[in-house]
Amino acid sequence: MKKRTLLIIPILLLAFLLYSFEKGRIDNKNVISTPNLDEQLEHKVDSVLALMHLNEKIGQLVQYSGSWNATGPSSSIGDQHKLDKLKRGEVGSMLNITSVASIRETQKIVMENSRLKIPLIFGYDVIHGYKTIFPIPLGESASWDLDIIKQSASIAAKETAASGLQWTFAPMIDVSRDARWGRMMEGAGEDTYLNTVIGVARIQGFQGNDLSETNTIAACAKHFAGYGFAEAGRDYNTVNIGENELHNTILPPFKAAAKAGVATFMNAFNEIDGIPSTGNKVLQRDLLKGDWGWNGFIVSDWGSIGEMIAHGYAKDKKHAAQIAMNAGVDMDMESNAYEAHLETLLDENKISIEQLDDAVKRVLRLKFKLGLFDDPYKYCNEEKEVSEVYTEENLAIARDVAKKSIVLLKNETNILPLLKDIKSIAVIGPLADDKDAPLGNWRAKGEYNSAVSVLEGVKNAVSNTTKIYYEKGVDLTVPTVKPGENQFLHPLKFNTTDTSGISAAVEAAKKAEVVLLVIGEDAYQTGEGRSQTNIGFLGLQNALLEAVYKVNKNLVIVLMNGRPMDISWAANNVPSILECWFLGSESGNAIADVLFGDYNPSGKLPVSFPHHVGQEPLYYNQKNTGRPYSPRHVTYSGYTDTPKTALFPFGYGLSYTTFEYKNLKLDKTEIPKNGEIKVSVEVMNVGSMDGEEVVQLYLRDLVGSLTRPIKELKGFKKTMIKAGETKTINFTINSEMLQFYTINKTWEVEPGDFNIWIGGDSKAHLKTSFIVSE
Ligand code: BGC
Repeated sequence: MKKRTLLIIPILLLAFLLYSFEKGRIDNKNVISTPNLDEQLEHKVDSVLALMHLNEKIGQLVQYSGSWNATGPSSSIGDQHKLDKLKRGEVGSMLNITSVASIRETQKIVMENSRLKIPLIFGYDVIHGYKTIFPIPLGESASWDLDIIKQSASIAAKETAASGLQWTFAPMIDVSRDARWGRMMEGAGEDTYLNTVIGVARIQGFQGNDLSETNTIAACAKHFAGYGFAEAGRDYNTVNIGENELHNTILPPFKAAAKAGVATFMNAFNEIDGIPSTGNKVLQRDLLKGDWGWNGFIVSDWGSIGEMIAHGYAKDKKHAAQIAMNAGVDMDMESNAYEAHLETLLDENKISIEQLDDAVKRVLRLKFKLGLFDDPYKYCNEEKEVSEVYTEENLAIARDVAKKSIVLLKNETNILPLLKDIKSIAVIGPLADDKDAPLGNWRAKGEYNSAVSVLEGVKNAVSNTTKIYYEKGVDLTVPTVKPGENQFLHPLKFNTTDTSGISAAVEAAKKAEVVLLVIGEDAYQTGEGRSQTNIGFLGLQNALLEAVYKVNKNLVIVLMNGRPMDISWAANNVPSILECWFLGSESGNAIADVLFGDYNPSGKLPVSFPHHVGQEPLYYNQKNTGRPYSPRHVTYSGYTDTPKTALFPFGYGLSYTTFEYKNLKLDKTEIPKNGEIKVSVEVMNVGSMDGEEVVQLYLRDLVGSLTRPIKELKGFKKTMIKAGETKTINFTINSEMLQFYTINKTWEVEPGDFNIWIGGDSKAHLKTSFIVSE
C-alpha cells in the first residue's frame, strides 16, 4: 500500500505538470494575441514552483561538487549526505561531474528517487576549451578578433554539451591590471572596453541563439565584482576602490553581459570597501537584478558564502546565509549554508518567502530554457561524446585561433620570418619540447601532454634538409607531483641548482644559423591562487638565456606565459621576441605558422608589459595626476629608477609588414551631447607582405565632473590590408562612447573638449579634437 502511494504521487504530479504545460500550449492556440515565449516560460516556472515543498525549493539553491576538491576546502558533509539529498530532490546543481556516463548516473538518482523529478544542471569550468584546448583567454584576447573568439567559445560549448554538461563558469570579465595576480590569464586584460566586447563575444559563442540546442551551454559572467583589483595582486585580497572606479572601470563588462542575456553570474571572493562581494546587496539585488533588469541566477563563488565569516562580516554560517540571500545570491556553491539555515531564517523572518521563491524561479527558468524538463538526459549522448569532441575540425580551428593570438614584440634585424629550408636551427629551452605547458591552467579535460610542442611544430614545418638541434638546457621546475597528476593545489618548486644542461645548449646554439629559445612560465604559475612578486624568468632561465645569447645573437625568444612578464633584459638585447602565451592543443603548429611566415602575426597586447614588477599595477589609461611629466617640474608622478610608461604598451604588436597612418578626419568638430561624428583614417601597408592591422580609436574627455583617464579605448577594427594597399577605416563616435558615470551617479555625456587618437597601439600619435556642446 505504502509502495503504491509512493508510486502514485509522482505519476499524479507528472500528469499535473504535463497538463499545465499542455494548457499553456492549448491556450496558446486559442487566444488571439499569442503570449510571447517569456510568458509561456513564466507559466511553466510558476506551475512547478506551486508544486514545491520548502525543502525542495531550498534544494534548488544548493550546488555540490561531485568530485575532487577543486579550488578550496571542500564541504565536510560527505558523500552519503550528498547522495541522500540528491534522492530527496534537495540539490539543484552539481559541478565537477564530467562524462556522459557519470552525468547520466547522477541525473538518474534524482529522476528515479525524488518526488518532483526536477532535473539537475551540471556545471564545469570550461575556460578555454573542453578537450580541444584553445589559447588561455588572455592570449586569445590578444587576437582582438571577436569572430574567432566567439567561434572558439562555440566549439568549447559544443564539446562541453556533447559530454553531458550544460553550464560553464566563464567568461571571466574582471578587468585586471596587476601582473602579479595569477588570474589575469583568465580574462581579457587591463581594459574595460576590450573586456566588454570580448566578454559579449564569448557569451554569444557559448550560448548561441538558443540555449535549448544541444550544442550550446549556459555561460556565467564572473566574478561580480572587483576581483581583478586585489590589492598588491594577491589573490582573494581586499579591494579598495571608490564608486567612480567601480562604475567606470569594473562594471561595464558586467552590464554588457547582462544585456547580452548571459544566463548566470558568479559573485566574487573579494570585499570592496568593507563589503564582501558575496554579501553585497547594492551590487547584486539592487543593481544587477533591479536597475539592469536581469533575470538569470547568481551562483556564489566556491564557498564564498561561508567565507564571509573569515572576512569578519558574518558571525556564523547562518548569519552568512541570511546576508547572502538578502543580497540576492541564488545558489550556494559548496558552503552548505543555504541547505542548513534557510528554513530557520524564513521562520525567523530574517529572509522572506518572496526572496526564496524568486531565487528558485531563476534556477528553474534556466532549466526550462536548456530543455532539461523536456528531457533530463538531453545532453547525454555517448556517441556524440566521442564523435564531436577533440575532432580534426576543432583542432584546426584551435590552430587558427592560436596563430592569431600571437604577438610579435620585437623583430629588430628581421630574423623572422624564417625560411623553411633554413640550413640549421637550434630549438632550446625548458618549454621547447613541453607538450603539457601549452595547455595552460584551467584546461578542463585537456589531456596531460597532449599539446603540439614548439619542437614538434618546427619539425612539421621545416624542409627535410634542415638540421634541428634540440636541447632543453635547464628544467624550469622540479616535479612535486607525479606526471599527469593534477597540479592545481600543489606549490611549484623551481630548479635553481641543476645547470648541467647549459653547456650542451650552448654547443647547439653555436652550430645553428638561428636559435629559438622557448622560455617563460610553467602552466601553473598563473591561475587561481598563483600570485607572484617575481614576474621575470624564474629558475635558471636567465642563466640559459645569457649563455646562449653570448654565442649566437641570431636569437628568437618564444615566450610562453600567462601574464605580462618582466623581460627587460631580453627586450634590450635579443633581436626577436614572439609572445605566445599558452596557446592550447595546437600550440607548436600555430607558433611554426608564424615563425615560418605562413601567417603574418596580427596580435596586439591586451595588457601592458612593465620594465619592472615595481610598476605594477600598470595600465595605459591612467589618470594624469596634478603632476604628469613636464620639463618644468623638478619632480613628477613617476619613478627615479624606472620609466613610468610600459616596456611594451597596451595595444602594441608588430607585423612582418609595416603600417602607416595618415589623414585622420572628422566630419564635424562640434556636436551636441547626443550627436555623432564620422571619423576616418587612412592606413597604408608600406611593406611587402599582406597583413592584418588592428586600428584602434582612443578618446580623452579633457575636463570632467570627475577626473577622466588620459586615454580610453573606445573602438577598434581588425582589417586585412594588402601589401601596397591603402584602406580607409571609418568609425562613428556616439554618445555611448562619450558618456561616463559622473558625479551625479548616472551615465551622462558632459559637454566640453575631447581629444581623439587613432593608431596601431595605445601610444597612437595621430590626434585631433572636437567639442561637445550643451
Ligand atoms: C573560482 C571560480 C570557479 C569555481 C568553481 C572558484 O575557486 O574562483 O572562478 O568557477 O571555483 O571551480
